[in-house]
Order: sequence, then C-alpha cells, then structure tokens
Amino acid sequence: MQIRGIILAGGKGTRLGELTKVTNKHLLPVGPLPMVYYPLKKLTGIGIKEILLVSGTEHMGDFVELLGSGKDHGCNLTYRVQDEAGGIAQALSLAAHFARDARSVVILGDNIFQDTLKPLLNESNQHEDHAWVALKRVPDPGRYGVAELDGNKVLSIEEKPANPRSDCAVAGIYIYPPDVYEVIKTLKPSRRGELEITDVNNYYLKHGRLGSSLLQGYWTDAGTPDSLLHANQLVREHEPVW
Ligand code: G1P
Repeated sequence: MQIRGIILAGGKGTRLGELTKVTNKHLLPVGPLPMVYYPLKKLTGIGIKEILLVSGTEHMGDFVELLGSGKDHGCNLTYRVQDEAGGIAQALSLAAHFARDARSVVILGDNIFQDTLKPLLNESNQHEDHAWVALKRVPDPGRYGVAELDGNKVLSIEEKPANPRSDCAVAGIYIYPPDVYEVIKTLKPSRRGELEITDVNNYYLKHGRLGSSLLQGYWTDAGTPDSLLHANQLVREHEPVW
C-alpha cells in the first residue's frame, strides 16, 4: 500500500503570546531550522515523497515561500487550507482526498523528537490495517493524551486527564490506515468544541486495531514558551536522527 505524509501546521499558537502575533508557530526557529523542517525531514527521512501540509489561511503564503514545491527537500509538497481551527482530527480530515487508498503518516508540526520514524513504520508495517501511535514517558502527562498500558498493550487513552493513569504521553506522531477518513466522519466535537485525535485513536483501540511503539530518544512539543525553549536546547545538544 502507498504511504503518504501529512504535516498539521495550523492553529493560532495562542499559548506563545507575542511570538505568534505576526507569524505561525511552525515557522519559529528551533535550533538552526524553522520548526516545520523537523516533521518534514522526519517524513522524507523514511522515504516518503508525497507530503501534504495543512495550515490556516493567514500564513499559508509563508509556508509556500519557505518550502515551495518540495524539490529542495526531495519531495512533492501539496498544501491544503484549514479555514477555521476545529481540532487535529478535523485538520486531518482535509487530507482525505490526498491520502485516498494510502496509509497516512501524520506529524503534528510542533512535535520535536530525536528518533527516526523507521522503527515505528517497520512495526506498523506488520499490521497495515492498524492505527499506530508513538508513546513517550513524561513528567507532566496531564498536558497530553495519556495511554494506560499493560505491558505493550494500550488499555485506554484519555485526552488531558486531570488524574493521569500513567506517565505515558501519546506523541503527535501517528500512522493510520486508509479508513481513518471514514472514522473521522463519525466523530462528535469534544467539550472544547474540537474533533479530537484521541477519539480517532480510541476508535481503533475499541476495534482491536491500535498498535504502539515507545520512542527511545527525546520528545517534546514546542507550543508554549517553556517547551519551545526546551526544544531548542534538545536539538542543540543532540541533532535529531532523520
Ligand atoms: C495534541 C493531542 C494530544 C497529544 C499532543 C502531542 O494536544 O490532542 O493527544 O498528546 O497533541 O503534542 P494539543 O497540543 O492540541 O493540546
């Protein structure tokens, strides 16, 4: 089955305050590169050639100016506008046509991590009809989707729980089979009015079609002033493996 890459680079970046007043979060610097280069290089690093970037109307022109056709990065880039922020699963639904009949490797554009995606892809290749999530133990799981585990097996995933059942965050790195776009159509908005990616993952969990891999190296989001600083420190200490 074909594999396509999707970078979700929308959102208002409100948690970054003045830093995102005139630009998009994913264009801010992380080490020597704009943030969006990290997910892009992770995807091209595992040989993905067809990549879709989803962002809002405000800064799409800047992404096109920065990345162009993708030829300098060894890929073909397609751009899709998300008119209004409606959650990660809603943003992903915009890739339905692009990734029709393919598996989708999806990265949230503000996730900075050390590992290459190769082991994750290899493991998920053994179960092409499964969704696959990347997990990482963190000190502050309540900020993320949290997976409850029994050995390797995911028992539940909760989005930003007040009382996390484990310290295992679900990173913003996912692999989905082609029917993910049908699954998204069945979702209802959450309390925060968004289509949640955690609801997508729980659909696959409920149907016995969710796999997971633990990330070995560092992982952080970069969507707050503290985590952006942390991401900068991490990539300066150890360059990610593409
Ligand atoms: C999103 C997801 C969450 C995931 C996180 C990873 O949260 O909803 O499950 O753990 O990304 O960065 P958000 O950053 O939209 O709050």
